[in-house]
Amino acid sequence: MSRTILEVTDLRKDYRQRRGLVSMLTGQGRVIPAVDGVSFYLRENETVGLVGESGCGKTTIGRTVLRLTDASSGRIVFDGRDITNLSRAELRPLRREMQMIFQDLDAGLNPEMRVRDILREALTVHERPSEAEIAGRVRELLEQVSLKDSKLANFPSELSGGEKRRVGIARVLAVRPRLIVADEPTSALDISIQAQVVNLLRDLQKHLGLTYLFISHDLPVVELVSQKVAVMYLGRIVEMGLAENIAHQPRHPYTGILWASLADKQNTEVSLHARAGAPAERERPTWGVFDFEQPVNGCRFAPRCPLYQDKGRPAVCTDPASEPQLRDVGHGHVVACHFA
Ligand SMILES: Nc1ncnc2c1ncn2[C@@H]1O[C@H](COP(=O)(O)OP(=O)(O)O)[C@@H](O)[C@H]1O
Ligand code: SF4
Ligand SMILES: [Mg+2]
Repeated sequence: MSRTILEVTDLRKDYRQRRGLVSMLTGQGRVIPAVDGVSFYLRENETVGLVGESGCGKTTIGRTVLRLTDASSGRIVFDGRDITNLSRAELRPLRREMQMIFQDLDAGLNPEMRVRDILREALTVHERPSEAEIAGRVRELLEQVSLKDSKLANFPSELSGGEKRRVGIARVLAVRPRLIVADEPTSALDISIQAQVVNLLRDLQKHLGLTYLFISHDLPVVELVSQKVAVMYLGRIVEMGLAENIAHQPRHPYTGILWASLADKQNTEVSLHARAGAPAERERPTWGVFDFEQPVNGCRFAPRCPLYQDKGRPAVCTDPASEPQLRDVGHGHVVACHFA
């Protein structure tokens, strides 16, 4: 079995949202527990998918494990080394090993620079290669991401979305990373281009031995690329296991709903409660809108849970003392639901 390259234990990240004059002046504000006690690990050369609605904390996890932002608490171990509290200087040599593909296609692509110079810059961040080495590496990168030589003279604004994504990936590959957090790498692209990018990432993994944390709200894409999948809801992992089990035998009601909503894509506006046959007078939740201001007792999914309704709203689900914890339901498949 391959070795563990990243191990994350009880990771928490709170954001403090300052709204209004008083909170500005006092420096106090509403705390948003964007990541609320998350643990997982990644083995070398494998892909773990992180899936959940917009706002559930996926990007925050990605940024925190790469130390692009500080954790509030928890532990991040990269390649056997605790990096949770390393200083900037201590992190610098590790930066090249852990890279992020940002959701935004323009991230890292200086609009004033030609593709050639963008890649050159990436190649010289950590090293001082010769001109001949740079030329060789640029050629190699273009080949790896299947971009034509002619694109080197282009500015980012002259590229299509798919080409921008390829340049962005080439830029990341330039520093020869081992771990890549791919944050919704296909979500900003046309459907027809998405599959090409997914295949590219898979090929690169095979040839370069990369490890991915693959973030997406798109469950079928995640299933396609991942060996393991973690499903997130409101800052927590609610289900995690082998991709095929998460896809075909989901045990948490939320995962089932994520799938159902895809089967019913043209209808994503439709209330989840309405679909689950819950009382119509309840407020209709909308995709991607979370209310951190409304404290939830017990299971944070209860306000939207069809199983909770079906079971006649059992008290245990909303018992403040019993937020369901992840437990093993077999073969390393873990689920946080009292009734899984
Ligand atoms: N810099 C920030 N300051 C305050 N709140 C933030 C910040 N970044 C993210 N959030 C909040 O944290 C939660 C998780 O966000 P994010 O990690 O971007 O979710 P996702 O990537 O799953 O869409 C959201 O409620 C979001 O509004
Ligand atoms: S613990 Fe209760 S509310 Fe939470 S997911 Fe399970 S059935 Fe639904
Ligand atoms: Mg995000």
